[in-house]
Amino acid sequence: MLVLGIETSCDETSVAIYESEEDGQGVLAHEIYSQQAVHAPYGGVVPELASRDHIRKLTPMIRTVLQQVDRARCDAVAYTAGPGLVGALLVGAAVGRSLAWAWQVPAVAVHHLEGHLLAPLLESPAPAYPFLALLVSGGHTLLVRVGGFGDYHILGQSLDDAAGEAFDKTAKLLGLSYPGGPALEALARRGDARRFDFPRPMTDRPGLDFSFSGLKTHVLHTLQRSAGDDRDRADIAAGFQQAVVDTLCIKCRRALRQTGLRRLVVAGGVGANRALRTALQRLAAAEGAELFFPRPEYCTDNAAMIAHAGALRLARGETEPPAFGVRARWPLEAISAR
Ligand code: KG4
Ligand code: ZN
Repeated sequence: MLVLGIETSCDETSVAIYESEEDGQGVLAHEIYSQQAVHAPYGGVVPELASRDHIRKLTPMIRTVLQQVDRARCDAVAYTAGPGLVGALLVGAAVGRSLAWAWQVPAVAVHHLEGHLLAPLLESPAPAYPFLALLVSGGHTLLVRVGGFGDYHILGQSLDDAAGEAFDKTAKLLGLSYPGGPALEALARRGDARRFDFPRPMTDRPGLDFSFSGLKTHVLHTLQRSAGDDRDRADIAAGFQQAVVDTLCIKCRRALRQTGLRRLVVAGGVGANRALRTALQRLAAAEGAELFFPRPEYCTDNAAMIAHAGALRLARGETEPPAFGVRARWPLEAISAR
């Protein structure tokens, strides 16, 4: 069965075709278009511009992936129904639902975070259940116990800024363009992480929640007290990145020990950060845990993960009626394997 996946929750338009049969070949076609250039002049995502750009790009991209697999249609459609920007979600949902109706095939609404959580299963070797997932994206920072498909228990989350949001806001303070995560990582590579002292927020008390907004303020004060030259900015970037990486590692170690889980999966855009990857590799080795990373293309927003999660839901007989809805907010634990 070929599943067309559609992702339009934020500032990436993405479509994929995933072959779901046991002996299927997995992802057969995958296109990602980033709206970075559209939003960069504004220093952040402008929701209305995001919706309009999805409208422009989505249908031609669907045509492209169909051509790549030499098919006129797919056997099912999976689209991201939330959480995300409502206008942006509506574009993918409306196009996805309409295509399914025109093709007379089932459609399934996918939770964006379930897509991220299960993305590591697209890789080989795939982690077996149960596993601990660290989901670090622009909108979310979550530690989740994934007991099985549809069995998600949130162990900890950010009380304010998400990790990626902290990267983006700090990058902006350092004069880097949007989205700041990759640019900040590049700047940090030239810096000395030990020159400035940064806190490791909420690591001195029990619990698995995070708070990153104070780090951003700390960056601002450090920047104001320094000359703000190239050297200073690189050192501040390195210090900030190290503080985020250490904080995430401390909480992952705590979660592994508390749950007794021996598999750690990293998902979401910040999972592309190399300093984080290296630190988590060291942590996993020390804790005797196995570490799983999706390739960077499956870490940031993408339709392969949506087609994949949708295929798993379809395999359980789940489909949506022709009417559809989207949700800007959607608690992960509200969904289950129906
Ligand atoms: O998962 P994602 O593509 O979108 C959301 O669902 O939010 O994550 C995007 C976030 C952005 O905040 C971006 O700055 C961050 O991931 N990011 C990074 C890196 N690559 C992307 N943060 C740090 N280092 C990176 N290399
Ligand atoms: Zn995402």
